[in-house]
Amino acid sequence: MLTLVSPELEAYSVAKSEPTGKLLDELERITHQETDLPIMLTGALEGRFLKLMVQTIGAKRVLEIGTFTGYSALSMAEGMPADGEIITLDLDPASSEIAKRFFAKSEHGNKIKLLLGPALDSIKTLKGAFDLVFIDADKVNYGNYYEAVLPLVRSGGVILIDNVLYSGQVVQPNCDNSRAIAELNDKIAKDERVDRVLLPIRDGVFFVRKK
Ligand SMILES: C[S@@+](CC[C@H](N)C(=O)[O-])C[C@H]1O[C@@H](n2cnc3c(N)ncnc32)[C@H](O)[C@@H]1O
Repeated sequence: MLTLVSPELEAYSVAKSEPTGKLLDELERITHQETDLPIMLTGALEGRFLKLMVQTIGAKRVLEIGTFTGYSALSMAEGMPADGEIITLDLDPASSEIAKRFFAKSEHGNKIKLLLGPALDSIKTLKGAFDLVFIDADKVNYGNYYEAVLPLVRSGGVILIDNVLYSGQVVQPNCDNSRAIAELNDKIAKDERVDRVLLPIRDGVFFVRKK
């Protein structure tokens, strides 16, 4: 599990948060069985955070970059109204097949549209405005994703960026991924276009609000 707090505190936090439900628990189990990198799952705590965030801001249009097996998309879909829409982007056909299987099983799955292909290409085909964007794909492109989606977010809308502490490596970046994330964190810290707070949930989530 990719978390900066102890396993005991993570389990305690999950236990005190809203339960996830059978389908998400099954998706977590299947992701461990059928994929090589189940560590990529956002998981229970961050999933509940995403759901509550879309509920709190009353999001009706959400963009996700990085579907994987669909855990975060399904978590957010739960918090959206029946006419809400999530567009989720990924380039991996195998994990996307699992995501589609679970979207079909969920009563909220009809809110989710998956676009297969490199996310930067897919974003070019999209029109705003989005109430919320969740960035959780290849780390070297994080800066590109941030600039590509900012014009598509409505004023007062939210961008959430996952893994911004990168297992703590951002304080002393030593690889392409940690350098790319540290650069984006530095940029956001000075970005007058947004309000921001970096939350140490799981592997770090940057909570950014467009002015
Ligand atoms: C950390 S996982 C996403 C986890 C997901 N949000 C969840 O809750 O389970 C990152 C995903 O980004 C996808 N990805 C990597 N590079 C990409 C790119 N250039 N365009 C689109 N998706 C990409 C990977 O295939 C992978 O499924």
